[in-house]
Amino acid sequence: MFSVRRAAVSFTQKRAFSASAANPYKVAVLGAAGGIGQPLSLLLKLSPKVTELALYDVRGAPGVAADISHVNTNSVVKGYTPTPENLAEALKGAEVVLIPAGVPRKPGMSRDDLFNTNASIVRDLADATAKANPKAKLCIIANPVNSTVPICAEVYKKHNVYNPATLFGVTTLDVVRASRFISELKSTDPKAEKVTVVGGHSGVTIVPLLSQSNHPDIEGEVRDKLVNRIQFGGDEVVKAKDGAGSATLSMALAGFRMAESLLRAKDGETGVVEPTFVDSPLFKEQGVEFFASNVELGPDGVKKIHGIGDINSYEKGLIDACLVDLKKNIEKGVKFVAENP
Ligand code: NAD
Ligand code: LMR
Repeated sequence: MFSVRRAAVSFTQKRAFSASAANPYKVAVLGAAGGIGQPLSLLLKLSPKVTELALYDVRGAPGVAADISHVNTNSVVKGYTPTPENLAEALKGAEVVLIPAGVPRKPGMSRDDLFNTNASIVRDLADATAKANPKAKLCIIANPVNSTVPICAEVYKKHNVYNPATLFGVTTLDVVRASRFISELKSTDPKAEKVTVVGGHSGVTIVPLLSQSNHPDIEGEVRDKLVNRIQFGGDEVVKAKDGAGSATLSMALAGFRMAESLLRAKDGETGVVEPTFVDSPLFKEQGVEFFASNVELGPDGVKKIHGIGDINSYEKGLIDACLVDLKKNIEKGVKFVAENP
């Protein structure tokens, strides 16, 4: 076993929380009328922690808002048509802003193939957020996450409002999938399967650490197949949807989990840990500025970035391959903002 970083990985999310009345939180979804945006907004409407839901999209947000507003929970839902004033209004006062705006993959495409379209969408939405509500926790779902998150950081730096503790690439779906896939293999309850997944959010940058799971005994061909399935789980959905997009429903669940965890931490709950792609010290020495690992969340966002813990030689190989791609993806995002401010 290699001790790459001192392990601070805790698989148990302690819920040492004395429940008091939840604070009222506004949450904004940019791209709310899309495949992810709609079910994500519905889940947020069901959350007692959300009292105001701002739904923004370049098309269709008022209709989605009208529909969701009939769900019989107390929160207020507002839909916004695409004007700069409306976008600013949607963002104002939001504790959490989620961005699923952008095009999804079609079969045969990589996430990086989405860069040309999605980079400018995310840049412009980050620009609006930096102006209207720079303190919001900004959760980026739009792909390629490995590049769109650095794009947001660069935009915030331009406005002198960058706070690394409030910028999150949403990689929750990778651990959702990993726990489901391992449970299928072992015939166990997926809820009891916690698999740490680190790195980034595409192909070989997705690194599951099975040696830290409940099943470190998975080895050889079975392990290789499982790792490959976790790394390329998104492709399964893209292929099955056959041109109609990528994961939307499982992603809505994953995005909701991330948003809710941020609100739980804001409410004072301790021990809230989620995997997320953040500005991270773990591999900065190798020139990799962002990295996904388990992160403890606090009222102000990132509280503690956990190390990757003990890994075996196979996983060290996966990390090495991850870092090569991740560095390029991050640099591409940074360069984009420098050249297209
Ligand atoms: P979709 O096409 O169904 O929805 C995207 C929505 O964004 C549309 O309603 C569109 O009108 C809107 N939009 C486009 N430009 C906009 C802008 N400038 N401002 C506001 N809204 C805008 O796509 P989807 O299936 O919801 O996927 C969205 C993105 O999420 C894709 O880039 C996809 O690759 C990514 N994704 C990420 C993960 C992840 O794990 N992080 C998982 C699944 C999908
Ligand atoms: C996923 O992991 O499902 C998303 O990143 C969408 C995709 O393109 O696969």
